[in-house]
Amino acid sequence: MRNITFDNITETVTKAYAGTEDERTREIITLLIKRLHDFVREVKLTPQEWEAAMGFLLRAAQASNEQRNEFILLSDLLGVSALVDLLDGKDDAGASITTLMGPFYVPGQPDMEAGADLIKDNDGERILVQGQIRSANGGPLPGAIVEIWQNGPNGLYTVQDPNQPDDNLRCTLHADAEGRYSFSTVKPISYTVPDDGAGGELVRAAGRHCWRPAHIHLMISADGHKRHISQIFNEADPYIDEDAVFGVRSDLAVPFDREPTEAELQRFPNIKRPFNVVNMDFVLAHAE
Ligand code: BEZ
Ligand code: FE
Repeated sequence: MRNITFDNITETVTKAYAGTEDERTREIITLLIKRLHDFVREVKLTPQEWEAAMGFLLRAAQASNEQRNEFILLSDLLGVSALVDLLDGKDDAGASITTLMGPFYVPGQPDMEAGADLIKDNDGERILVQGQIRSANGGPLPGAIVEIWQNGPNGLYTVQDPNQPDDNLRCTLHADAEGRYSFSTVKPISYTVPDDGAGGELVRAAGRHCWRPAHIHLMISADGHKRHISQIFNEADPYIDEDAVFGVRSDLAVPFDREPTEAELQRFPNIKRPFNVVNMDFVLAHAE
């Protein structure tokens, strides 16, 4: 390994990793080395550019801590997280499309009954969100667990805001005997992903912005099915076609302003009026 040249370096480095014991890790690392080296050759990366890139990664590391992983944000902003999710779901015939989980999920939120009221002290326009959880084989999924989280009227999630109770606008629901779920909440609002780290640098360099259109996050679990991660987007949001992290999918962008029918008004007598209705069904793929 003394005679390393421009022509043999890629082969030399891949050979050095050929002993990687785990087969899948070996496959990934070998292709990663080849693609990285090809990338450097193709863009003719200079030492100054390499140094700038290493500084950028250092700043990403410095912005990261227990609560914040700037590398995930970079993956989101570069569309890699979205690609991994799309790849994972692309062969799930008959299942609903999924999307990003984002960094603000917290497990173990309070169990609540169907029709749960998440509004409490939050200001904003009231909405009822409802739908059915079904299996890709067509049947409903009674007892499916639906975990929900969204931002507050100030645009922040509880984990970003010490002034909100830890479980504000979050809960765990259990679908009823027909696989139906429902809860009342306030309309989420558009917000910016954290822009004070390397992610913000990247976005500003590209002349982009950090906004995400208003959405409610859901994670749905049911025996024998893949964990289903989704978001319900307000299709009228000004950022619906320019999500900073490429998370919007056509099927997940729906109206947030449908007036309730008489039957819905009767079924949900405890939601303070006026409120609008948001409908979204989810079809889960089978676990392998
Ligand atoms: C979110 O939707 O909560 C989110 C997703 C990606 C990056 C930042 C936030
Ligand atoms: Fe979000």
